[in-house]
Order: sequence, then C-alpha cells, then structure tokens
Amino acid sequence: ISGLTIAIDGPSGSGKGTVAKMLADEVGLPVLDTGLLYRLVGSVALSRDVALDSADALADLVDQLLMSIDWTVEGVFLDGENITGSLRSEQVGEAASKVASQPEVREKLLALQHQLAKAGCIMDGRDIGTVVLPDAPAKFFLTASIRERARRRWAQLKDDGGSTLEAVVDELKMRDQRDRERQHAPLCQAADAITIDSTTMRVDDVVDRMLGVLERRG
Ligand code: C5P
Repeated sequence: ISGLTIAIDGPSGSGKGTVAKMLADEVGLPVLDTGLLYRLVGSVALSRDVALDSADALADLVDQLLMSIDWTVEGVFLDGENITGSLRSEQVGEAASKVASQPEVREKLLALQHQLAKAGCIMDGRDIGTVVLPDAPAKFFLTASIRERARRRWAQLKDDGGSTLEAVVDELKMRDQRDRERQHAPLCQAADAITIDSTTMRVDDVVDRMLGVLERRG
C-alpha cells in the first residue's frame, strides 16, 4: 500500500459513514465503506437463496461476485447495474452480519480490500485498524451509546415507516453482539486507535477532532 490510509472502525450507527465522507472532502482521499462488501454478499446470497451459514456456497458466491463487480466513486456496480441503494436496508445489514462471520468470506474480501486501498484511502468498517490495515498511520474508533445510535438509525428509517425505536435498539444490540463475539476479525478497537465517543457530539466536531489528530501527526 503506497498511499496514505486512515482507518475508521466502530459499531453500527456510530456515524462512521457520514464522518468518513466529510473527512474525505477535507483531506482529498477516496472513501471505501467496507460494510458494502459484506452487504453485497449478504444481498446476493438472499436473492439467490444461498444459505447464510454455508461457508462453501458463500465462498463460491464471493468468487463469482469478484468477477462481476466494479467499485467506482458512484457506488457498487453488479453486471453494469448500480446496486448501492439496494444494499442499505436493515434486512441486508442483518444478512451481511451473518455472512461476515464466515472466515472464508472474510479472507476473500480481505484481498479485495487491500487491492482497493493501494493508492491510499479512508476505510470504514469493523476490522480495518486491526486486520485490514494494521499499519495505517491514523486509526479511529468511533462509538456512541446504544440509545443514541438507535435514535440516529431510527431517524433514517422512520421515513420508510414501520420500525419503532425499541425495535431498532434490539436489532442493534443483536448485531453488535454478533460482530463483537465472532471468532474471526471481531469488532474491536486497535491498540493504537484513538477513540471518539460521539454520543453528545455534532458530526462537524467529530471531524474537527480527527483533523486535529492528523495535523499533529503531520
Ligand atoms: O457497516 P455496515 O452496517 O454496512 O456493515 C454491515 C455488516 O458487515 C456489519 O454488521 C458487520 O457484520 C459486517 N462488516 C464486517 N467488517 C467490516 C465491515 C462490515 O464484518 N469491515
């Protein structure tokens, strides 16, 4: 990896995506939302009826996908179609978290992430500072209380109707637990990552804090 890399990890709803995009505008690096990779596998597994716990079938699926996807600044293209929007649903997030516990899937996606990070980028995910880019010169671990994360997620979902805040709290708790307790590359903070608890912070302040850290490190 030759370019500058910045790792941002944290649980669902901690604001990684928003913060990564704002930071990218400031420092002029592309962003790679690695959750989209797992969401892609989860989504296609659902649509093709591939069992979410079948390591072999999922590994074959990832091999096929790696030949037919394109990552561009506009999003993820599968066989020429931009499918990024369809990957954002809660149902796909849940499937993503299940396929993400399979080491075969993680290993194949790791190679792709290294390739995509080559020229430098901001990567956000769960295991970026620990596994994907352990040598990244800047690592952040973004957190927020479970209620605040659920409130943010709920505010996004509310427009589509349906879910209650309590249901979102429960879903997030389940996803957190699965991501933290899985055996391979669980969600955890790298020893050299800087933690930012955004519970009572505005996103601009989170980004300013990160810029301050980057400046101090030259
Ligand atoms: O961040 P997002 O909600 O899009 O991620 C969806 C799921 O993908 C997460 O719940 C997690 O299980 C998985 N994931 C992962 N490692 C990453 C990024 C996402 O395991 N680096």
